[in-house]
Amino acid sequence: MSYGHYVLVVLSVCVYGSWQLLPLPDFIHPCKELSDECFTQATLDAIPGFVLGIPEAGIPTLDPLYLDQNISMTLPGNLKMTFHNAKLVGLSTCIPDKVSSRRKKRTFVFDMHCNFTVSGQYSLLGRLLLFNLDTEGQAKIKIYNQRIRLEVVERVVLNEKGEGHYKINSYKYKADYGTDLKLNLTNLIRGNPQISANVLQVLNSDSQALAKDFGGPILDYAIDYALNVTQRFFDAYTYDQISHVPLTEEFFEKEK
Ligand SMILES: *[C@@H]1O[C@H](CO)[C@@H](O)[C@H](O)[C@H]1NC(C)=O
Ligand SMILES: *[C@@H]1O[C@H](CO)[C@@H](O)[C@H](O)[C@H]1NC(C)=O
Ligand SMILES: *[C@@H]1O[C@H](CO)[C@@H](O)[C@H](O)[C@H]1NC(C)=O
Ligand SMILES: *[C@@H]1O[C@H](CO)[C@@H](O)[C@H](O)[C@H]1NC(C)=O
Repeated sequence: MSYGHYVLVVLSVCVYGSWQLLPLPDFIHPCKELSDECFTQATLDAIPGFVLGIPEAGIPTLDPLYLDQNISMTLPGNLKMTFHNAKLVGLSTCIPDKVSSRRKKRTFVFDMHCNFTVSGQYSLLGRLLLFNLDTEGQAKIKIYNQRIRLEVVERVVLNEKGEGHYKINSYKYKADYGTDLKLNLTNLIRGNPQISANVLQVLNSDSQALAKDFGGPILDYAIDYALNVTQRFFDAYTYDQISHVPLTEEFFEKEK
């Protein structure tokens, strides 16, 4: 190694030394043990602050969440529906019922329930009841007490500075659509508000099917987005900052 390289390495170690860690926000309460009680309480404590965003860590607001992709779904009867310019309100209402760590499987399990409201523009194409539809308008969907079980597989990766950071490897979730949902679509049958209202009423009478058809694709997006943001949080803060549980060998993985 040339002298120039050596100076560069020493400099970068100084500049990126651990004294430079971002201070942990005060709503993050690290656990000292792997108990459900601690993780559940820590998640409860973290949500209200976390959803507001952490600008210094590059973490955006999660509530409201502006959906920057069109969300398309095919409903029974080959009805195609697309949401655009949509906004999801409600991640801040999520209440963790139980959060547990299954360390052997490197998995965290979150059981929670939330209230969501989605609003935006929709377009609809296809056959619904007796009508051939090709329409668009404003959509508003309220989903009450949506239960979600989210399983996140993660490990701790050592970076070149020797600091451990959580990395989300994969996740899956299950939603219980036994929940209540109210759907409102303006201009459903073009130029006929009375029939539109009747059709909506019929749709809303099977809210369980609605929740699954409409709620599913929106939840897919929201959960994927929230986990992307969570990964940014893990990149910004070290394992030692956010957890006071000593790391054991099986949790580690050297960055390749
Ligand atoms: C989203 O949907 C709207 C309305 O259908 C359309 O005008 C727009 O091009 C779509 N955007 C993308 C990125 O597909
Ligand atoms: C959801 O809204 C209902 C009705 O307003 C309320 O009773 C319930 O406590 C709310 N749940 C959450 C998780 O905010
Ligand atoms: C649906 O939304 C429209 C426009 O915001 C409103 O006028 C109407 O009362 C709503 N209908 C229902 C059933 O909530
Ligand atoms: C999450 O991140 C992945 C990888 O960068 C990206 O492909 C995906 O679109 C992101 N999801 C959302 C909802 O923004």
